Amino acid sequence: MDTAGSLVETVIDGLTREKKLRLVRGQTDPEGTATGYLPGIDRLGIPEYRLVDGPLGVRAEGRRATAFPASIAVAATFDPDLARRKAAAMAREARALGQDGLLAPGVNLIRVPHCGRNFEYYSEDPVVASRLAAGAVTGIQSEDVVATVKHYVANNQETNRIAVSSEVDDRTLRECYLRPFRAAVEAGVGSVMTAYNRVNGVHMSDHADLVDGVLKDEWGFDGYVISDWYGTETTVAAANAGLDLEMPGVSAGTADDHWPAADEFEGEAAEIMRGLPDGTRAGLFGDALSRAIDAGNVSADRLDEMVGRILGQRDRFGQLDVRTRSVDGTSDDATASGRKSAEHTGSSDGGELDTPAHRRLAETIAARGTVMLENDGTLPIADEATVTIIGPNVGDATLGGGGSSETTPFRSTSPVAGIRSRAAGAVTVARGIDPIPSLSLFDVLPFVGGEPESADDSTETVGVDADDPSIETAVDVATTADVAIVFVGDRTTEAKDRDSLRLPGTQDDLVEAVAATATDTVVVVNSSGPVELPWREDVAAILEAWYPGQADGDAIASVLYGDRDPAGRLPVTFAPEGTYPTSDERRYPGVDDTAHYEEGVFIGYRHFDRADAEPTYPFGHGTSYAEFSYREATLVADRTVRVTVTNVADRAGRDVIQVYIRPPDTSPVERPTRELAGFEPIALDAGETQTVDIDLDPHSLGRYDAETGWTIDAGTDTIEVARSARDVRIRLNK
Ligand code: BGC
Repeated sequence: MDTAGSLVETVIDGLTREKKLRLVRGQTDPEGTATGYLPGIDRLGIPEYRLVDGPLGVRAEGRRATAFPASIAVAATFDPDLARRKAAAMAREARALGQDGLLAPGVNLIRVPHCGRNFEYYSEDPVVASRLAAGAVTGIQSEDVVATVKHYVANNQETNRIAVSSEVDDRTLRECYLRPFRAAVEAGVGSVMTAYNRVNGVHMSDHADLVDGVLKDEWGFDGYVISDWYGTETTVAAANAGLDLEMPGVSAGTADDHWPAADEFEGEAAEIMRGLPDGTRAGLFGDALSRAIDAGNVSADRLDEMVGRILGQRDRFGQLDVRTRSVDGTSDDATASGRKSAEHTGSSDGGELDTPAHRRLAETIAARGTVMLENDGTLPIADEATVTIIGPNVGDATLGGGGSSETTPFRSTSPVAGIRSRAAGAVTVARGIDPIPSLSLFDVLPFVGGEPESADDSTETVGVDADDPSIETAVDVATTADVAIVFVGDRTTEAKDRDSLRLPGTQDDLVEAVAATATDTVVVVNSSGPVELPWREDVAAILEAWYPGQADGDAIASVLYGDRDPAGRLPVTFAPEGTYPTSDERRYPGVDDTAHYEEGVFIGYRHFDRADAEPTYPFGHGTSYAEFSYREATLVADRTVRVTVTNVADRAGRDVIQVYIRPPDTSPVERPTRELAGFEPIALDAGETQTVDIDLDPHSLGRYDAETGWTIDAGTDTIEVARSARDVRIRLNK
């Protein structure tokens, strides 16, 4: 990186080696709120640096923040602008909480339907993930907060995530897994987090080819590369591979600096422990790096470059104070944070926390991301209908999964509270079965995580019978109502994959029993990704609402009663267990610490097309209360398709126009039957017609060849204008 003559270079020149080392290795945050912390150097106008987790909301220790919908729910909107708006709101909240950088977005592709972090990611499709990633990066950084795209790269499972090697060929990396990271770099991301796993045998924090080579040299990334927490494996190899910042840099061990072994735990806790790195491994970029420089194993210039990359991003976002400080000052340690945190709601240093606009945005995204998988006409529910709300957890909002993305909101609305305040008819409630407990790695780790301070918690848990729920009671209550709404869901956490795609506990029995009554049964699914829905042909309607966050109840009520169109479309394929391309131990979770990505580029819908297998619900699927007709598709520029869409229904609605490319069958290598190349979310009033231009991603038109790089095959592509990967409306030749 060229820092010659820059302000940052002047600052670096004024730093001793000891001070430089303090800027490339994390320390403990004296304020206790940050996930990652670097001390400041007051004399040089370098304030402290606080990094905090996303990507669902801000997880400042002990503090509350808006709990936005999960990333997969945002992806279901197919709307990069909503990703941008959510990210900008998170960044404003980060600023209000005295933070300078967000550890978001997470952009790994959904390769394995069981992955415990799918809710933190966007899609099985690289174009969806790329466009949403770019939106999120732009949003975060528009608020002068540094974004960190994670986890680079091929981090697609939680099982054995700290040791597994993803064995993946170049073509697959380029055509699939690297693309969202490249999009983030093109959107100007300030920081990239390396993953815990290895790729082709090399730990990502040591991966010179992918970090120094692809990311920095080839893509021209000029920000800094940060390790995942306790994910720095070495000193010399990591520094020379391009890692710039070790996090968290301090031990999370017990008093005797011990990290418990997984076999000290049982059951789920043992599984979670196996997914955690050794929390005592810290300080590899401390004295060890200094010794490596003395020994000539790492150059002194490389340390300057590391510091320059970190300070360069902070300077870019106005976080340095070097222009006003005297280099002759006496104090070395910054005592004051660059940003002071807000006590509660309102703004501080340009930040905003828990504002009405953020609350509304959280609700809008939750509703817009809701996918209507089925509807026989029962939805929307008439205002005056009598309804019964059934489900083990209907008294609580579904905020998210467990782990580093957990956000504690100031307020939340449960399904019961949301529906009660919307319904005009009588509302009854029955849990049916005992609550399904939440699952989190923080329940296992005795020494991390803190309870947020008390606040005006207005979480609604009203009106839910606490004692002895039974399926019989739920059935009795259901038979008295016009419509039964059954809420079911999965439970996931970082550090552990789901054992199966079935809903946990006896939730399927509950749905089946209610569906067997004469009452119309609507099922709302709150899941992290694909789940099996064995009763789907016996119910009147199914909504997939993901992990909707704090606005859960209000958002789902607005969709159920038709105030909003269920505008979501599936960013992942729903299919039975055993039919995914990773349904083979070698591929997932791998054997001998190796996951073989033998399916190559055929993940998600590409696999189901290749296998000619019928998914339960295809990628891109989702129905609307309105109805759309497509006509007159033309290619108006080399990479722009124009199509005319009419809402032929008598009510307003939203649609997502999807454009797939079918490559020519003359290609010398096997290519996917179709690949998503572009998409556009639209809103149309009743009877309205719009002409919409959809830009196509250049990489979707070609393929990656290890010898020739990105290559366009001779022959004619077919362009498909579609409403899902299996619902093509118009075909034209390119
Ligand atoms: C996760 C990261 C997270 C970090 C800090 C790690 O366990 O993989 O996504 O940013 O912890 O909490």
